Amino acid sequence: MTSAQFDFAPLLPAGLPAPAAKWTGLAKYSFVGGNNDPAEVPVDGLIEAVNAVLKREGKTLATYGLASGPQGYRPLREFLTGKLKRDAGIDCVADDILIVSGSLQALDLVNQSLLAHGDTVVIEQDTYQGSLNRLIRLGVNVVGIPLDDRGMRMDALAEALADLERRRITPKYIYTIPTVQNPTGTIMPEGRRAELLKLSQQYGVPIFEDDCYADLIWDGKRPPALYAMSNNGGVIHIGSFSKSIAPALRVGFIVAPWQMLSRMLALKTDAGSGALEQMVLAEYCAPHFTSHVPKLTRGLRAKLDTLMEALNEQFGTAAEFEDPKGGIFLWVKLPDNVDTLKLYQSALAAGVAINPGPEWSTDKAYARSRLRLCFASPSHEQIREGVAVLADVCRREFGVPARSANVEKRTRT
Ligand SMILES: Cc1ncc(COP(=O)(O)O)c(C=O)c1O
Repeated sequence: MTSAQFDFAPLLPAGLPAPAAKWTGLAKYSFVGGNNDPAEVPVDGLIEAVNAVLKREGKTLATYGLASGPQGYRPLREFLTGKLKRDAGIDCVADDILIVSGSLQALDLVNQSLLAHGDTVVIEQDTYQGSLNRLIRLGVNVVGIPLDDRGMRMDALAEALADLERRRITPKYIYTIPTVQNPTGTIMPEGRRAELLKLSQQYGVPIFEDDCYADLIWDGKRPPALYAMSNNGGVIHIGSFSKSIAPALRVGFIVAPWQMLSRMLALKTDAGSGALEQMVLAEYCAPHFTSHVPKLTRGLRAKLDTLMEALNEQFGTAAEFEDPKGGIFLWVKLPDNVDTLKLYQSALAAGVAINPGPEWSTDKAYARSRLRLCFASPSHEQIREGVAVLADVCRREFGVPARSANVEKRTRT
């Protein structure tokens, strides 16, 4: 019997996720995924770093965890303590940090250590699809809080927490992406962060702060992290090198009180994340991170400008969006009659990949005519061509933009 004939189906336990689809390659015009700009990967610097660190410390690869212990390569954790203090105001030591395989693993570890089927969590109404899908798969009840141009709305959060308390439900955490929110691109100002912390304390609900885009801000200025502002230790903070350096390295981190970090460390049963990536990052980032990031964000800002111009040109006033303060994506509203789940199918057939809004929101009706466009990975030319193809498909399927759209250009304030 060949392995192709063996039927594994009767052996599979209940509750497995649906099988993964086979990889068919990127679309010709790919506006999906958190991919970075290939031109901005600091290849030469990484080559220098890998040579230097392997010559000096290569033999430590013989030991699990590089003799730095199970929390990850110590020089990388030390780089992070300095960076987090400087940028986010976080006071922590290397032992407060756990290096993980991308912040996706951080999401899994936080969820595994806190959540059980039937629990409730509070999240932003429009949110990262990867976080939302995880919660749904775990059978967790999700309460979505609407956002405005300053992130999660505190009036709505206060109402939701009071309502849950009346129903004797204590949510396990409040999940937020406060610094360049995915997908809306907003940054929560310091005052609102203080309000959020107050509500968290009042209702005894910890905050789960996902800061993976915090390095990608056009003017480089960010409010302090919720973790830094908290005075009761009730915040778990996660971050990543995916957006600042390269996602394929798969290196992220968790900063949390030892009471929680020790639980997550016990659940991280892979004997440590890839060591070479950690070594290269530490070696590269210590001298270069602060000059690399502004260069990266200048390139991203230029691509965002190209995307917004192309949308104006092709869709006119039919495409509405705010100019985000950073990040790699734009959250776009099309006229109400456009169903972006359908648009997604037709656009893909024409070679354009987009993220349909309903997959990025707890409110499927609100997000029906919205879509997320990532602009980091396509070239300027692909952005212009891809938006033109998208507009053609959208016109054919939904009658918008009207033919005259590229005459009727918006004036933006
Ligand atoms: C908000 C958010 N969190 C976490 C992740 C996971 O990123 P990574 O695992 O590459 O660090 C992403 C990826 O796009 C994201 O947008």
